[in-house]
Amino acid sequence: MSSNDREIESFSEPEARAELDRLHDVLDKADRAYFERDAPEMADAEYDALKRRYQALEIAFPELRRPDSLSGRVAGAPVEGFAKVRHAVPMLSLAKAYTDQDVLDFIERGRRFFERDKDLEIAFTAEPKIDGLSASLRYENGVLVQGATRGDGTVGEDITANLRTIADIPHRLAGSGWPETIEVRGEVYMSFAEFEALKARAAADGKKEYVNPRNTAAGSLRQKDAAVTASRNLNFFAYAWGFASSDPAPTQYEAVRKFAEWGFRISPLMVRASSAEELIAHYRLIETQRSSLGYDIDGVVYKVDQLELQRRWGFVTGEPRWAVAHKFPAEQAATVVRGIDIQVGRTGTLAPVARLAPVSVGGVVVENVTLHNEDYIRGIDSTGAPIRGEVPIDIRVGDTVVIQRAGDVIPQIVRVVLEKRPSEAVPYEFPHVCPVCGSPATRELNANTGKEDSRRRCTGELICPAQAIERLRHFVSRGAMDIEGLGAENIDLFFNAGLVRTAADIFTLKDRRPEVQRALAERREAQARQREAASGKTRKNVRGVEDRNFEGLDKLFAAIDARREPELDRFIFALGIRHIGETTAAVLARTFSTIEEVIRVGKETAAHADDPHAVFPSVDGIGDTVIEALIDFFGNERNDEVLDALLTQVHPRPYVVTVSATSEVAGKTVVFTGSLEKLTRGEAKAMAERLGPRWRAR
Ligand code: IVH
Repeated sequence: MSSNDREIESFSEPEARAELDRLHDVLDKADRAYFERDAPEMADAEYDALKRRYQALEIAFPELRRPDSLSGRVAGAPVEGFAKVRHAVPMLSLAKAYTDQDVLDFIERGRRFFERDKDLEIAFTAEPKIDGLSASLRYENGVLVQGATRGDGTVGEDITANLRTIADIPHRLAGSGWPETIEVRGEVYMSFAEFEALKARAAADGKKEYVNPRNTAAGSLRQKDAAVTASRNLNFFAYAWGFASSDPAPTQYEAVRKFAEWGFRISPLMVRASSAEELIAHYRLIETQRSSLGYDIDGVVYKVDQLELQRRWGFVTGEPRWAVAHKFPAEQAATVVRGIDIQVGRTGTLAPVARLAPVSVGGVVVENVTLHNEDYIRGIDSTGAPIRGEVPIDIRVGDTVVIQRAGDVIPQIVRVVLEKRPSEAVPYEFPHVCPVCGSPATRELNANTGKEDSRRRCTGELICPAQAIERLRHFVSRGAMDIEGLGAENIDLFFNAGLVRTAADIFTLKDRRPEVQRALAERREAQARQREAASGKTRKNVRGVEDRNFEGLDKLFAAIDARREPELDRFIFALGIRHIGETTAAVLARTFSTIEEVIRVGKETAAHADDPHAVFPSVDGIGDTVIEALIDFFGNERNDEVLDALLTQVHPRPYVVTVSATSEVAGKTVVFTGSLEKLTRGEAKAMAERLGPRWRAR
């Protein structure tokens, strides 16, 4: 993303707003993928970089901070569906240490804090940091009454029924001496063995793939049907507690041992220590055992042992001062680049992917890794600086590369092992034509920076099947037209069968019912054959299944019809114009009210592309990047045709503002002062102007 490189200081206010909105959309989407669907789409490092940029923009332009700012939001907030549970004591996160020095610093901070207590001996515990999901289990009089996820730390989800299915979680505490009320906390995780077994079962059923044990454990806990959770054989280690009507013991170590007496599993690798050296020694020991534990751990947690001292040392925002997570370095593995493929995205970006000899990195088999863009393959960033090592080192087919997975799911290449480069390996030549449609693929000049965009893009637009199919997928997606039952899979099917080429075709699909039926039947046949081949079993009752699915066809057609009058903002977003995310689409809808007006202004602006500001009104939240994208879109005749055809089928609802004709302000000049809550100034102005000549806005 070229705009990620631009210096924040150089932004005008409207540009900053457009950039903030763009980042908001990207980050929001990434959050949802990660936390709601447990299917991360972005590497942690990239996410962090975008988030930092977002925050820097907010700091540079405080007045642009959105009411729904992502900065205040703790990702992982509860999703709809489960009842919410407010934790009696918040579930905290841990400060992190990456080096031995960080650990020494932690101990030193403790020593200074308790300085006046001359003879004080601070003791610590050290135990593995399990890479799963924390859960809080509330016991009243020894009986499990409620179990919840961490959520945002303050409010989680009530998943009692699911947690009860975990064999390591007692429904009734054993032994005696437990506090009347206690929230026992620990980590739910899935062992490698269970993960592999689940993957094997899923493969045999032709079901989706599972990414890694942690995300699978998360998905398993979020099941509506507890029987599904039960079938997943999750595990639980107890290591902490929240509210307790009395201390379980005077020290951390003894408290956790008590948990074992009460029927919990606790980590056999927990020890007590009294110096940084001992803690680090235990860290090294656990590190050597890491690969044979049978489950994922990502570090070692150190905690002050005496509860009295924990209480005195206290907390900083969201973290105890008295504990730290000493993380393991990212796992790496070497493998060979077997090939480089180019994928073409919705807006035509040519995205290179390295096909690797499969290699296991941190419990996940990696076969592909993104190569980002042409410059990345050449080994230089947008400023011309080397990105791997001291000098630019390119990536070639045949190269041995070191792959890393750092706490996240998306792997990356850290370096090329030049000593192993085969003598016949040649520099990769990035294609200058689209591999799908053969149109020229070019790198645009960024008008603001004068620099070339790092991405090469296919200029074929809708004649490019790859772009057409991605646009269709986007068109029907959730935030866009949201057509139920018409997901990416069906779009692919209908596109490849020649039944849907552009969005308008979706709405005439039911005129081609026999062909649609045939395409669906053929896919089902193919899938059934595959399953048969995989399981060795023969099918029964195929007819019945088919009949059921053709009933589904009426539902699909009904769902399509139900979307013939979409909200204007959804419709604009669905068009898939570059740089127009959900937020910008909403601004356009509010500003121009009807699709006809959007098109009129768009075309007129395109006709005056040399001086767009003479035509396009100044609207907060619409910067030059967006205006340029509108010019590209509306200046393209092919898009015209597609849009015309679509508008014979679909009638977006005008965005209405209601103002009573008898309103006191009728006929007066309106002046907006101060800050407006729901609208930007520009939008409010445009709205007022639409209300008639008697309305003048300043
Ligand atoms: S103690 C007040 N101990 O790490 C301290 N956390 O980064 C609360 N975790 O949300 C946490 N293993 O999910 C603690 N042995 C362990 C842990 C552990 C894994 C997770 C836990 C927490 C996160 C904090």
